Amino acid sequence: MTKFSLKNHIIFITGATSGFGKACARLLYAHGAKLILTGRRGEKLRELQVELGADRVHIAELDVTQKGAVEKIVADLPSAFSPITVLINNAGLALGLELVPNCSLDDWEHVVDTNIKGILRCTHAILPTMVANKSGYVINIGSIAGTYPYPGGNVYGGTKAFVKQFSLNLRADLFGTPIRVTNIEPGLAETEFSVVRFKGDEEKAKSIYAGTEPILAEDIAETVLWCISRPAHININRIEVMPTCQAFSMFAINRSLLGK
Ligand SMILES: NC(=O)c1ccc[n+]([C@@H]2O[C@H](COP(=O)([O-])OP(=O)(O)OC[C@H]3O[C@@H](n4cnc5c(N)ncnc54)[C@H](OP(=O)(O)O)[C@@H]3O)[C@@H](O)[C@H]2O)c1
Repeated sequence: MTKFSLKNHIIFITGATSGFGKACARLLYAHGAKLILTGRRGEKLRELQVELGADRVHIAELDVTQKGAVEKIVADLPSAFSPITVLINNAGLALGLELVPNCSLDDWEHVVDTNIKGILRCTHAILPTMVANKSGYVINIGSIAGTYPYPGGNVYGGTKAFVKQFSLNLRADLFGTPIRVTNIEPGLAETEFSVVRFKGDEEKAKSIYAGTEPILAEDIAETVLWCISRPAHININRIEVMPTCQAFSMFAINRSLLGK
């Protein structure tokens, strides 16, 4: 089978320093794409640029919570890295697994600023050129947490529900253009996600994956590549991906509330 070529693509990835974003960078580069790799950790970006080669990799430190930051990066792109043909809105995080009464408001705001406003900022900065060029693809990384609730998922799940609906509404607004939009919704995946969620507690993070065979970052990169490589007349709206070891639980029923 011939390898699908991305050599006409310039792909902007948020959160390329780790996990899904980094795996996407490696796989899409291997298929010939030029990449604009972003994230807050410059050292990780530089390592990846050295690994892949600077000819087809432009890096830029980006904190998606900073208003105006994406616009500046886009305005400063070398001409060889413009126009962007695919935007992968991947940067995101969860903080904590506490139940609502015990959550930190600062954590909630940080998660909203990253997972919701970050996607809005990148999309707002990059989509108009795609529309003007009549060509482009926006891939958002949502989560099964945007559809299925779980204790402690509170604001994280809420932000991913936003991402899901925003993706569908983008499609509605882009009707009549050839621009494609996909929301990829992974389940349990082993990346730095849980280390970040538990604020550096590696043991606690490891315990989440103990005895499981979770999704790997490379599996999501393959899913992204599969979406991009569909013919131009096909739009994948949403994809839910779970490891086989993960499924749904029963509704919780509290039998001690009777008569209270
Ligand atoms: N792993 C899972 O189980 C899972 C499941 C479903 C969905 N997801 C979603 O998948 C996406 C990627 O997560 P992952 O699993 O690959 O986790 P990860 O390994 O922790 O990667 C997260 C990436 O997001 C970047 N990031 C975080 N805050 C940022 C900010 N303010 N500005 C710019 N970049 C930021 C990080 O880069 P820097 O720290 O360098 O900025 C990092 O590259 C997230 O949206 C996450 O919600 C993950």
